[in-house]
Amino acid sequence: MEVNNSTDAPARPLGFTAANNHTQEHHHSHPQTHGHHHAIFSSISTLIIIISIASIALIFAIFLIILMLRRLKSAKTNGTCKEHNSIINNTSSKFIAHTTVTFNSSPDVRGGCLYGGHMSRTPPPRFRGVQVFAYKELETATNRFSEANIIGNGGFGIVYRGVLSDGTLAAIKMLHREGKQGERAFRIEVDLLSRLQSPYLVELLGYCADQHHRLLIFEFMPNGTLQHHLHPSHSQHRPLDWATRLRIAFDCARALEFLHEHSIPTPVIHRDFNCTNVLLDQNFRAKVSDFGLAKMGSDKINGQISTRVLGTTGYLAPEYASTGKLTTKSDVYSYGVVLLELLTGRVPVDTKRPPGEHVLVSWALPRLTNREKIVEMVDPALQGQYSKKDLIQIAAIAAMCVQPEADYRPLMTDVVQSLIPLVKNLYSISSSGSSRFINQIASPSQGLSVSSESRWHIL
Ligand SMILES: *[C@@H]1O[C@H](CO)[C@@H](O)[C@H](O)[C@H]1NC(C)=O
Ligand SMILES: *[C@@H]1O[C@H](CO)[C@@H](O)[C@H](O)[C@H]1NC(C)=O
Ligand SMILES: *[C@@H]1O[C@H](CO)[C@@H](O)[C@H](O)[C@H]1NC(C)=O
Ligand SMILES: *[C@@H]1O[C@H](CO)[C@@H](O)[C@H](O)[C@H]1NC(C)=O
Ligand SMILES: *[C@@H]1O[C@H](CO)[C@@H](O)[C@H](O)[C@H]1NC(C)=O
Repeated sequence: MEVNNSTDAPARPLGFTAANNHTQEHHHSHPQTHGHHHAIFSSISTLIIIISIASIALIFAIFLIILMLRRLKSAKTNGTCKEHNSIINNTSSKFIAHTTVTFNSSPDVRGGCLYGGHMSRTPPPRFRGVQVFAYKELETATNRFSEANIIGNGGFGIVYRGVLSDGTLAAIKMLHREGKQGERAFRIEVDLLSRLQSPYLVELLGYCADQHHRLLIFEFMPNGTLQHHLHPSHSQHRPLDWATRLRIAFDCARALEFLHEHSIPTPVIHRDFNCTNVLLDQNFRAKVSDFGLAKMGSDKINGQISTRVLGTTGYLAPEYASTGKLTTKSDVYSYGVVLLELLTGRVPVDTKRPPGEHVLVSWALPRLTNREKIVEMVDPALQGQYSKKDLIQIAAIAAMCVQPEADYRPLMTDVVQSLIPLVKNLYSISSSGSSRFINQIASPSQGLSVSSESRWHIL
């Protein structure tokens, strides 16, 4: 119940700046009133005082709310971190046995990739480090890169399922050799992921830079990509339920927030956030992967960078697609597109749809502010099982994220803050937290005590 107070959190920063401008304007107009009548002057100054007091009170209230949200957030992070640490704890013991490093076989990588400086400066607790593998070990792990072990084919290479010599299941990405882009992608991923640890980013276990081979070894994510679950190629797949979609949206927001706000020394722009780059673990918690195109934001004004346009069509922010102007707000746009996919079950560009519905964003944006239209937009695979209140909020967040004007898009932090109450609600409602599929929720035997709380609307 108390959560409801903070539901309008994303609107706060706007209100805050508005209040600020307000007081500034009044300060400016203050000297002009000087020569005028005393009565007018005193009534104006009373007004100014009242407004100032009101805005100070408002700012204080906002500050309190932010403080409250921060607490909520830190309580949340504690929970997830513990979970994460226990995994690290377990694997760490296994990795000690796995030490021989073939540094000398890859002299060119030595300078570029092993940012020992970064790692030793801020050693995270229990960080076991990124391992260096020999090509032979990975050949063994994947049964000579057998086709049967292929689990994905990303932008920069083929991903294999592999079992490392210590028994750890891993996703092994073999990068294409052609061109500088592949080499850059390799360096970026090793550099970024060995520095940035977050439970919302796919963990890099190691890499291999043996002669001309470039491979990355990641933690294995048993449930594959979000793309696979949201837009399955065969229909036998059980669709993701509403609660799982909300949590995935939240995890992704956390991941991008981490990249934008907590990366040291500069913000990181993912640049290629899409449904294929969101991976799901055994509990359907999401982690973001594929940092091959990521950009470290410089300290330039606004962190704006001009670059060649790379990324996936349908996810590109308009200003980035047309001018190459890249900011963290480009990621926010891509996030908005993924949010729309979670909501509607549609792909970003679908030329098989009727005219006017080809491009998801242009079709959805005018409808997102209309309550009846939102209900019509919902993924039919959800079979009407969702909270309408949540739906309207998610639609509002998505609408803000896909604004054509970058300045009108929220920061990822704002998105995270506005999702917290919705996600928190999920936890308080389904204490088991295990109803992941429509079928499970719909089955009358289990979990329906939950649904009867007027939260799940059957439409
Ligand atoms: C989070 O963890 C820190 C230290 O690990 C602890 O001091 C703090 O009380 C924890 N917060 C909550 C809300 O559990
Ligand atoms: C790490 O794992 C060992 C057993 O492998 C266990 O005794 C220890 O408590 C664990 N530590 C943490 C912090 O989970
Ligand atoms: C560590 O992981 C292995 C499987 O890889 C599991 O059998 C074992 O119980 C785990 N140990 C702990 C302490 O979590
Ligand atoms: C997402 O980006 C990757 C490249 O990083 C690309 O291979 C993939 O096709 C894209 N996914 C979608 C759904 O467009
Ligand atoms: C998700 O992963 C779990 C654990 O590996 C597995 O049991 C389950 O079948 C997977 N679900 C789907 C839909 O792939």
